[in-house]
Amino acid sequence: MYLQLDAIGKTYHTRGATVEALRAIDLQVERGQFVAVRGPSGCGKSTLLLIAGGLLSPTRGRVRIGGTDPYALAPNQRSRFRAKHVGFVFQQCHLVPYLSVMDNVLSPALVGNGGAAAERAVELVKRFHIEHRAGHLPSELSSGERQRAALARAMLNSPSLVLADEPTGNLDDENRDNVIGFLRDIAAKGAAVLLVTHDVQAASMADRVVQFPGTP
Ligand SMILES: Nc1ncnc2c1ncn2[C@@H]1O[C@H](COP(=O)(O)OP(=O)(O)OP(=O)(O)O)[C@@H](O)[C@H]1O
Ligand SMILES: [Mg+2]
Repeated sequence: MYLQLDAIGKTYHTRGATVEALRAIDLQVERGQFVAVRGPSGCGKSTLLLIAGGLLSPTRGRVRIGGTDPYALAPNQRSRFRAKHVGFVFQQCHLVPYLSVMDNVLSPALVGNGGAAAERAVELVKRFHIEHRAGHLPSELSSGERQRAALARAMLNSPSLVLADEPTGNLDDENRDNVIGFLRDIAAKGAAVLLVTHDVQAASMADRVVQFPGTP
């Protein structure tokens, strides 16, 4: 199993308050598989995705990405591991505000494969229909364009694990189908893809849908 999450629990401690965001979640995604996660707001989907991507250590349980526990790596090794293997699309996009769309898309190449990166970045901005905005700053884009720029950036290093948090939330039907079609394609080419979505239509295109408790 490429992504293996065993009995994951997460408790946040913030300003005296304790939030138990996840309790004993098990989830597996193989390479070649496209899995969707659905669940009500606040049930812990983003928390789970951050944990799966090596960005937030779990309070309990075990994470393996291709057999590696990212939390057992030293912080700089973990960053390199993530840059090489994990494509992460944040719910809030998190584009670098002072870089153009093209430079945002190219930013993972600072760690990865320099050479073919520029060509790949051009291909990706075309694929996500933001070519005409390549020189613009994130603040000059629509929400849907920002989302597609964040997706393009996540794909630059052809990650073997793709984690996407509501990447179609601001998209019209055509762009949604394009993005979901793209995620299906990269799964078909051998990536393990995990998508968090409220969109029933988007989830219906996954190989498997995992419902968090309380899903309508
Ligand atoms: N950094 C944090 N500190 C404290 N509590 C947090 C933190 N991040 C999330 N939470 C809490 O943990 C729970 C799960 O949050 P999470 O963002 O994972 O939910 P979600 O399922 O992604 O929701 P949504 O569908 O609205 O995006 C929520 O109750 C949230 O308030
Ligand atoms: Mg969320």
